[in-house]
Amino acid sequence: MSAKPVLWITRRLSDATLKRATRDYDVIINHADGTFISDEIIAMSAQVDAILPCHSELFNADVAAKLNNRVKIIANHSVGVDHCDLPALKARGITVTNTPDVLSDATAEIAMLLLLGAARRAVEGDRLMRTGAWDFWSPSFMVGKQVSGARLGIVGMGRVGQVMARRARGFDMEVHYYNRNRVPPELEQGATYHDTIESLMGVSDFLSLHCPATPQTTGFIDKDMLSLMPDGAVLVNTARGALVNESALLDAITVGKLSAAGLDCFQIEPGGNPAFAAYENIFMLPHIGSATTKTRDAMGFRALDNLDAFFAGDKPNDQL
Ligand code: DGY
Repeated sequence: MSAKPVLWITRRLSDATLKRATRDYDVIINHADGTFISDEIIAMSAQVDAILPCHSELFNADVAAKLNNRVKIIANHSVGVDHCDLPALKARGITVTNTPDVLSDATAEIAMLLLLGAARRAVEGDRLMRTGAWDFWSPSFMVGKQVSGARLGIVGMGRVGQVMARRARGFDMEVHYYNRNRVPPELEQGATYHDTIESLMGVSDFLSLHCPATPQTTGFIDKDMLSLMPDGAVLVNTARGALVNESALLDAITVGKLSAAGLDCFQIEPGGNPAFAAYENIFMLPHIGSATTKTRDAMGFRALDNLDAFFAGDKPNDQL
């Protein structure tokens, strides 16, 4: 019997994922769950046939060029692959896969939580209750922005964007979207298509980002884009921090152009943007869009499915 491929699992994945991986591969698991710098990734690559990383491990052009020839596949435990330089990895003959679909529900749930929490002042209300500072009530107390009946702009009508649209319809929101290509009517479900992002911004009382971070989209939510939004709009980001120019966002919050923001992603992770902490109308979470037990298992299994297909000599379903 031939030896099992050696698989490096760079983070602490779900128990079910680790159990299956341990059954089928000769695994090296990072039980300590710390992150690795590029030199450590390059050094480890000499010992393994496959890597199962998260978005926390960087495979830029430099790393790709220096990975050991032994590595044949990077089976990501993420849908986003902005941490991977795909052309550079392809040039090295390394297969790259991701885990689409399985995290759409969980991520849209967090987007809805952020949207609602930002609109209805959840941070401020929670702080008042927790500190015992709630000593006053009036009809003008903690008045927020109504979600039902408002217009939601979705940037990126892919899998997560489509689930977000369904959740928003449950709140009687009017759904608008921008996507590189208009989606078919059965996926559009009555949503209004905008063929430019600028046009979408103009109608978005709420804007939710569901597009990948690429050189083209990096920083595209900037001062000019934000200025196109209706006054008092709310920005929600569960996609990638790189999409948003954070100083432009802070300026828009400070002058009241945006009434609130809900953010799960930041330019610097972990850590986020300390300047945001002073603003109770910025509702923040630490990149937990896909962090449910069910979804973590599904992401791990999807990554293993891709590895299994690869080592069986087939094309993995999620090969990029
Ligand atoms: C993803 O899958 O891209 C999520 O952001 C978690 O990594």
